[in-house]
Amino acid sequence: MIERRVGIVGYGVMGRAHAYAYRTAPLVRPHDTRFVPVVMSGRDAERVRDVASVFGAESECDWRALIERPDVDVVDICTPPGTHAEIAIAAAEAGKDVVCEKPLALNSHEAEAALTAVRGAGVRHAVGFNYRRLPALSLLAELVRDGALGEVRLFRGTWLSDEFVDPATPFDWRFDRSLGGTTIADLGSHLVDLATWIIGPISAVAATSSTFVTERPAPQGPRPVEIDDASSALVRFASGAQGTLEMARSAPRRPCDFVVEVNGSVGTAVFSYARLNELWVGSTEDDPHLYGLRRVRAEMPSHPETGGWWPVGQGVGYDASLVNQAADLAAAWPDDSYDPDFAQGAAVVRVCEAIEHAAEQGRWVSVEPEGVAHSSG
Ligand SMILES: NC(=O)c1ccc[n+]([C@@H]2O[C@H](COP(=O)([O-])OP(=O)(O)OC[C@H]3O[C@@H](n4cnc5c(N)ncnc54)[C@H](O)[C@@H]3O)[C@@H](O)[C@H]2O)c1
Repeated sequence: MIERRVGIVGYGVMGRAHAYAYRTAPLVRPHDTRFVPVVMSGRDAERVRDVASVFGAESECDWRALIERPDVDVVDICTPPGTHAEIAIAAAEAGKDVVCEKPLALNSHEAEAALTAVRGAGVRHAVGFNYRRLPALSLLAELVRDGALGEVRLFRGTWLSDEFVDPATPFDWRFDRSLGGTTIADLGSHLVDLATWIIGPISAVAATSSTFVTERPAPQGPRPVEIDDASSALVRFASGAQGTLEMARSAPRRPCDFVVEVNGSVGTAVFSYARLNELWVGSTEDDPHLYGLRRVRAEMPSHPETGGWWPVGQGVGYDASLVNQAADLAAAWPDDSYDPDFAQGAAVVRVCEAIEHAAEQGRWVSVEPEGVAHSSG
């Protein structure tokens, strides 16, 4: 048994989710390598201590102290996006492997710097696009990969939440351009990652963005909101496929509702997060008498990412995506690389940035390859 000791930076929603996942993964899908959360950091000493103790971890108030601890092998970053690159670079320079929550960074320059740092230090790196680890979405990707839908022509993704609907919701890091980034970066990064994972690279985008609530209450008085509440993009894939992406935090009564649909030359597959154990699939090769889409229960042992989970019919939830992520990391490290890594995280950032530029400029924008600074010309 190889124990990889994890220091988790941040103890909010995702800090707790990752700590839970590291503790649970060996119970569900044991591997020779086991990740153990040994310390969590946060700025409020009492609160971080309370959370860390639940997971059997110690606490630190300074993330730099966490990185420097000799008993930390892996640094897992669960803080707002504007802090990711700096923490990832410091962790890499200290020789620690790095797991980073999405989006990898706020812009392509920061993402590239983080990628250069992990490559230069020769440490392992991963980005927390956990939804790839849901069985039904994984099955969708597998169907596309195996050609079951034929030549892929269309991708459609929507990600809707209502977290910005109430104008009285106070200003916090999610509205701060330099800390939280945009709705494109927050919700859109998941869609872009799923689209590129399932279909392949996105080569060009056109988009429109809106901010419906332009200022938010803050202790010193109303603060202007610098980010989009909602954005919609048309995308062109390198393969020739096309698609649409819509991301909004301004959709009443829609809590983290996302839908992904792929149409190929012979088949369609549809995933809706509200029914996350199911995939709807239909093919021109099906019996015409049964014309339509069939509801597949993505819970069979033959389906991806179901190993160790409950018998068919019991289903899994959001936590399974994170537990599977921790288990897949344990399986991949220390010998192999892990998908998605920082290179893929940086590629997602470049697409999100292109969407932002396309919306600002009202025109199609090409997605730059790795290593090329974005040109707006
Ligand atoms: N993969 C997913 O399903 C998913 C879901 C939600 C959030 N996220 C991502 O996880 C990261 C953290 O999100 P969260 O929902 O856990 O946030 P959160 O607000 O619940 O927690 C943020 C943590 O970061 C710390 N922090 C450090 N510097 C900060 C600063 N300058 N301002 C505010 N907080 C600071 C806070 O103390 C807290 O511990 C983000 O990158 C977010 O995009 C991913």
